[in-house]
Amino acid sequence: QGEREENETERGLRVADKGFLNTAVITSEITYIDGEKGVLRYRGYPIEQLALDSSFLETAYLLIYGNLPTKEQYHVFEGEVMHHSIAHQDTEGLFRAFRYDAHPMSILTSAFAYLGSMYSEARCFHFSHALLKMIELNIGHRPTRLCKGSRYTRSKATTLAAMAYRIRQGRKFVTPPAGLSYTASFLYQLDHLGEESYTPSPILAKALDVLFLLHADHELNASCTTVLQTSSSLVDPYSAVAAGCASLYGPLHGGANEAVIRMLISIGSPDNVPAFVEAVKRREKVLSGFGHRVYKTTDPRSFIIRKTADEVFKVTGKDELLETAMRLHDIAMNDEYFIKRKLAPNVDFWSGLIYRAMGFPLDFFPVLFAVPRVVGWLAHWRQMMLQPGGVKIWRPRQIYVGPTRRDYIPMEDRV
Ligand code: ACO
Repeated sequence: QGEREENETERGLRVADKGFLNTAVITSEITYIDGEKGVLRYRGYPIEQLALDSSFLETAYLLIYGNLPTKEQYHVFEGEVMHHSIAHQDTEGLFRAFRYDAHPMSILTSAFAYLGSMYSEARCFHFSHALLKMIELNIGHRPTRLCKGSRYTRSKATTLAAMAYRIRQGRKFVTPPAGLSYTASFLYQLDHLGEESYTPSPILAKALDVLFLLHADHELNASCTTVLQTSSSLVDPYSAVAAGCASLYGPLHGGANEAVIRMLISIGSPDNVPAFVEAVKRREKVLSGFGHRVYKTTDPRSFIIRKTADEVFKVTGKDELLETAMRLHDIAMNDEYFIKRKLAPNVDFWSGLIYRAMGFPLDFFPVLFAVPRVVGWLAHWRQMMLQPGGVKIWRPRQIYVGPTRRDYIPMEDRV
């Protein structure tokens, strides 16, 4: 014991902050959140304004490069993203190796890691380091060859997601069509069954665009932190994004939208809501889609998503789970247990209802979160690579509470 205490004090003050409740690990210019007031801004722009007037791709540019694009910049950016969205045909072999019932998030995670093996830049051990050096040496604002990693990753996200979707249905893969918007092209790749004239509903494409915009970034959540933690070793961005996908997959994070629908199905009808809420208060159940580490009031994205749901229902018809969701929302928002703990709807409470109404299978919901979030991860990756003074590897410390020094005992002498 004496030896441990001596070592600990030698290294100075160490703070134990389980779950990073109070630890800031970066300074950032990307996303601002005021969790008490329910404020969310991307690069200073309120999320409500962007959802109303911008598009997912324009917002992606804003998040990555810091300013809204000019017409010319947008044109080039859109062209690049759409051009690089076609997946190499060898990628198909990877998708075919999965079992028919594989979870699409596992497929997507593997597909991003696989991309790292396909492009020679990513195979370079010092890929990110080289990018950093090029920028430091000022060789071009965006060193084209080396930036391919992050560009390909964001371009191919929808294509890989659509492939993960279709392989489980035994359907042929569809090449991204020309002339459609980012989200309309995604819907086309998912749903196209061979008819020449098929075009996705513009209302549904717009709704998906709004959802993508709202999911594009949310500062240092678990998955973004994972991407940065992974990138701090200067690994290639494909591998870092694969790590981010794995983190997002969990039910406490990006898997919550799927968990909300499973919860609503298990509740069964609006009449069963009060009993369910009581079970939550007895800690026998979790109210998925409620609560947030940062928001201590309603997540501002959830207001926009609730409105978007009504637009979608005009096309698809109302989801039968809507009444149960509304009852659950109203009871929880007026119950002392939830008020005292400042638990309110987060981004996932209503989004699942939209995805369900649009006909997506439940286990595809986290993929619909991951695709736009790739943009936020890459914005943070870029910011990290460009930070003055270079990248410092993330190496948290622990408080060791195990045994102090012990001597080895031969097996025959152990009791
Ligand atoms: N249902 C019931 N009780 C809850 C819930 C919930 N959804 N969330 C938190 N609580 C309770 C906790 O039990 C705790 O109660 P206590 O103080 O009496 O012990 C209190 O509220 C504080 O909650 P913590 O778990 O400490 O909050 P934390 O910040 O660690 O967790 C989290 C945040 C993981 C989001 C949590 O609220 C949760 O599990 N929510 C449900 C899952 C979900 O919707 N996740 C999506 C989050 S948003 C996103 O990732 C996109």
